[in-house]
Amino acid sequence: MMNDWAALSDRLRETADRPIRALFSDPNRAQNFSAILETPATGPILFDYSKTNIDEATRAALLDLARARGVEARRDAMFQGARINETEDRAVLHTALRNLQGSVTVDGQDVMPEVRATLARMESFARDLRDGRIRAAGGRVTDVVNIGIGGSDLGPAMAVQALSPYADGPRCHFVSNVDGAHIHDVLEALNPETTLVIVASKTFTTIETMTNAQTAKAWMSRAVAEPTRQFVALSTALDKTSAFGIDPARVFGFADWVGGRYSIWGPIGLSLMIAIGPEDFRAFLAGAAAMDQHFLTAPLEANMPVALAMVGVWHRQVCGHAARAVLPYDQRLARLPAYLQQLEMESNGKRVSMDGQDLEVPSGPVVFGEPGTNGQHAFYQLIHQGTDVVPCEFLLAGQGHEPALAHQHRLLAANCLAQAEALMQGRTLEEARALMAAKGLEGEQLERQARHRVFPGNRPSTTLLYPKLTPAMLGAIIALYEHRVFVEGVVLGINSFDQWGVELGKELATQLLPMIEGKASTEGRDGSTAALVARLREFGV
Ligand code: F6P
Repeated sequence: MMNDWAALSDRLRETADRPIRALFSDPNRAQNFSAILETPATGPILFDYSKTNIDEATRAALLDLARARGVEARRDAMFQGARINETEDRAVLHTALRNLQGSVTVDGQDVMPEVRATLARMESFARDLRDGRIRAAGGRVTDVVNIGIGGSDLGPAMAVQALSPYADGPRCHFVSNVDGAHIHDVLEALNPETTLVIVASKTFTTIETMTNAQTAKAWMSRAVAEPTRQFVALSTALDKTSAFGIDPARVFGFADWVGGRYSIWGPIGLSLMIAIGPEDFRAFLAGAAAMDQHFLTAPLEANMPVALAMVGVWHRQVCGHAARAVLPYDQRLARLPAYLQQLEMESNGKRVSMDGQDLEVPSGPVVFGEPGTNGQHAFYQLIHQGTDVVPCEFLLAGQGHEPALAHQHRLLAANCLAQAEALMQGRTLEEARALMAAKGLEGEQLERQARHRVFPGNRPSTTLLYPKLTPAMLGAIIALYEHRVFVEGVVLGINSFDQWGVELGKELATQLLPMIEGKASTEGRDGSTAALVARLREFGV
């Protein structure tokens, strides 16, 4: 495997000292180092990676690596329903949830009739709820609370906010944290007689979700005679939803081949469908399906998810940059960084390859971000002048949804482009000296002040540009990132679809609870944990 990486290490050695801006002596660089996708569902999407230190030879080496690692065969296997999640012995078929015309076979059986039937049930439920035919004890349902965590929360919470201009259904709220403050603050503002609770949990065992679901049931039962009539479940564990008391007619099931962080496309997306309506939800699916088709059929050279992934591999595994910033200049994508944190870090934060061997290159990067321009006034200082390089991924729409505020959108866009430009160009010591001289400084004072105003520049960024954040565009953007994660995982040789790293903490929490409750001794725990438990008990935990 190491040989696969050698050509890229050579490229890094040969290009590390080259300023990115020098690459623009090629007048066609912006076009040559962009991928553009235009589909009837989405309109055009542009991914510009020209402000990186990737040149023709580096791109060729990256694509050779992708080919050598078997990206195309693995991609086809995923779409065809092969059990590529080997450590859990499962197929990986979230793409089937949006490929509604197709047929996909798992273990000899076409799974699509079931997918379509569940979608139709969701649509009929959402319509009845939105039109007031499904009612709560107090009449029309005004509010919906989705209780879930991780993939059963981040996707719908992110998408409901992203598509709020399309929301014309009941108000949707999200409770995830086991911290009682979360459910308390959400329920406090709601009327139990007009609220519907969705318990979203693939396994229906996640302690946070089950605890919050019980709290919601108790809250509802204080005002409503039959509280579980106002409950819906989204889960693969139909036995457990029945045990909770939820009518099977109000349960929307899905198969184990839908991973939690890939589940927004099916029943876990019910809150989004309720918010924006079934038609817009279909558009959201169609946008993702368009990206799927592109990923499946475009040659690697012109394949947008592959380009995004190979930029990621270049920055993380070859250049060694430990983090990547996701910077949506789109306030309604405020939760996209959190969503991508789970998608990318839970998928590719692994230290062994599929065959159990230690990785020879670093695993996936730390992902973080905030919407622009807010981040500019918070952490961009480090990105511009810190000692570490943090590759930045900007997202920007051509238009907002507020025509009367188009001037604000233009200011937003100017800021986004300015940041990318500033990161690449930087400001030299000579330029900084000239600035200080213009302010009347001289001598030692000029020199000292100038050094603080130097920007090293040569900091890479990419920009994803799209006309407007419509339901179809959001679907395409999420699918783009899903496939990026997939390609990066294949290149690393890891299983992107398990998450064993979250298990140990869960086990230890189960052991620690009785100690915190004072029902078990901390004997045998490490000194720090035992002392913290003792102090918590003193504090009246
Ligand atoms: O603990 C991690 C995890 O398993 C995620 O992968 C998942 O999205 C989340 O918990 C919630 O799981 P569930 O939907 O089964 O409640």
